[in-house]
Amino acid sequence: MLKNKKLAAWLEDMKELCKPDEVVICDGSKEEYDRMWNLLVDAGVAKKLNNEKRPNSYLVRSDPADVARVESRTYICSDTEEEAGPTNNWIEPDEMRTTLHGLFDGCMKGRTMYVIPFSMGPVGSPIAHIGVEISDSPYVVTNMHIMTRVGQAVLDELGEDGDFVPCVHSVGMPLDEETVDVPWPCNPQNLYIAHFPKTREIWSFGSGYGGNALLGKKCFALRIASAMAHDEGWLAEHMLILKLTNPEGESKYIAGAFPSACGKTNLAMLIPTIPGWTVETVGDDICWMKFGDDGQLYAINPEAGFFGVAPGTGMDSNANAMNTLTGNCIFTNVAETDDGDVWWEGMTDEPPSHLIDWTGREWNPNMDRPAAHPNARFTVSAAQCPAIAEEWEELKGVPISAILFGGRRASVVPLVNEAQSWQQGTFFGSIIASEKTAAAAGAIGELRRDPMAMLPFCGYNMAEYWNHWINIGQKAGVKLPRIYYVNWFRKDDEGRFMWPGFGENSRILKWVFERCAGTADAIETPIGNLPGIDGLDFSGLDISDDEIATLLRVEIDGWLSELPLIEDYYNTFQGKVPEELFNELAALKQRLEEAKQEAA
Ligand code: GTP
Ligand code: SPV
Ligand code: MN
Repeated sequence: MLKNKKLAAWLEDMKELCKPDEVVICDGSKEEYDRMWNLLVDAGVAKKLNNEKRPNSYLVRSDPADVARVESRTYICSDTEEEAGPTNNWIEPDEMRTTLHGLFDGCMKGRTMYVIPFSMGPVGSPIAHIGVEISDSPYVVTNMHIMTRVGQAVLDELGEDGDFVPCVHSVGMPLDEETVDVPWPCNPQNLYIAHFPKTREIWSFGSGYGGNALLGKKCFALRIASAMAHDEGWLAEHMLILKLTNPEGESKYIAGAFPSACGKTNLAMLIPTIPGWTVETVGDDICWMKFGDDGQLYAINPEAGFFGVAPGTGMDSNANAMNTLTGNCIFTNVAETDDGDVWWEGMTDEPPSHLIDWTGREWNPNMDRPAAHPNARFTVSAAQCPAIAEEWEELKGVPISAILFGGRRASVVPLVNEAQSWQQGTFFGSIIASEKTAAAAGAIGELRRDPMAMLPFCGYNMAEYWNHWINIGQKAGVKLPRIYYVNWFRKDDEGRFMWPGFGENSRILKWVFERCAGTADAIETPIGNLPGIDGLDFSGLDISDDEIATLLRVEIDGWLSELPLIEDYYNTFQGKVPEELFNELAALKQRLEEAKQEAA
């Protein structure tokens, strides 16, 4: 019944290796979805929420040792260490295969192997690609149902000879007579999230959480896809896609790369505070772009759902997300209310007086620990979003007019800065630094370079990836998007955010739109094109001229002290950084020094 030859042969190998009790080919049906939840509720890991409050929705509590992506255990197994580059963990492919073979041998004993055929992107889109994930986690099956397109249509599209990315996942806890199953099986001591970019394979062992386990997402749609995109001349990026419409009814599509938990979902669903403008959502996390015959970059959202950060999401900050979450959702590691609903920090100003927290313990507002895990997530179908753009599943994608790069920067980086060329925009992307968030395991708040928001997601050498970006810009006959560097996260001396952000970010989007349309002015500065004090629409916003000036200031000394850090960073890539980027760095230095002299 499996027509595809590669798939049939691979499954035989995987059965022999993993030794599951049973094999189920997933069809993506509602019946299958409900069956998985019955299993999860019976296992004690999931709880059905109050059907009156949150119909057809579930709360899941993970093992406290398995709550986020683990970058230190994520590997790019290219033939040579140089191909993986200094920002990735590398293990020689044969060595990794031996390790994985040992771990996967018998890893599904006592469990069911689910075979999940999925499409990243609308089935039949020339920008879409197919994967097949095998997993021993029913929780993964439910999430893949929402986050990707699963089922027979995908197998039909594969046909007899179609190609797919094989994705092997196990929670890493086989069951035998001695082992009793636990609600959230995992194996954090033996964690491996391994990618083989040459053979386009993914092997993930030991975690059931998010990007570690939903292999269509970061593993395929970014790490493997970035390697495919490099070889085939397209872009696979950690970007939201939004549709912005002005009061005259003209629309433009904007993509934006921000590191994990730095505002992609919020920007994609933004409700503008400026009258007459609307934002609609095309995607909130990943963007695949290919050139159309007209030389423009067309983008699709390869995902079908949102796996969004719950904490900080409320009616004030992201009403569209809240209104997406009214039913048919999965909540992982949030808190539970006394009436069988969910809560997390930031959902309401006042926390409920009593909760069961994400670890299953009693909680009240006097406790000094959060009720929801900072990386608690919701999973929900994109089609449910009230702001979803009607063309979000358009097979040919949407034409991108502008690309934003951003991160969490308390100082130096202004609110918005337009690149004067694709090459300078690539330079902006390459120097993005951001404070670490709870989306990945490890210390929070420390500033690190996260170029193009791809540091944890680039499937090959980062410097070669920058070279790919430069090459994209040098293709003949292309009409490239404009590139902007934005920063919503600047802080004042008291450590408070200076910019209100969220819906107010529409003021920046408006300027970007009008720059693309040729109707807004900019001031050429040493760091790029900035709006003047009167260039941005601040009407109705309670913000002083002083604050605006600070947000838009060119901090010559601040930038000058950044430059040696950028140079040091570039020098960690063993001479592989494209000379175009060194040229941008040198030119920036010269402009800043000239400006400093003029000011003196
Ligand atoms: P991933 O799903 O991990 O890739 O995250 P993301 O980039 O989609 O981030 P998301 O939109 O979920 O926002 C993460 C956190 O940043 C939330 O707590 C938001 O409330 C907060 N945030 C988002 N936008 C803004 C903003 O404009 N200003 C401020 N101060 N905070 C923001
Ligand atoms: C991110 O960390 O960027 C996410 C969440 O979008 S995860 O899918 O877990 O990678
Ligand atoms: Mn993300």
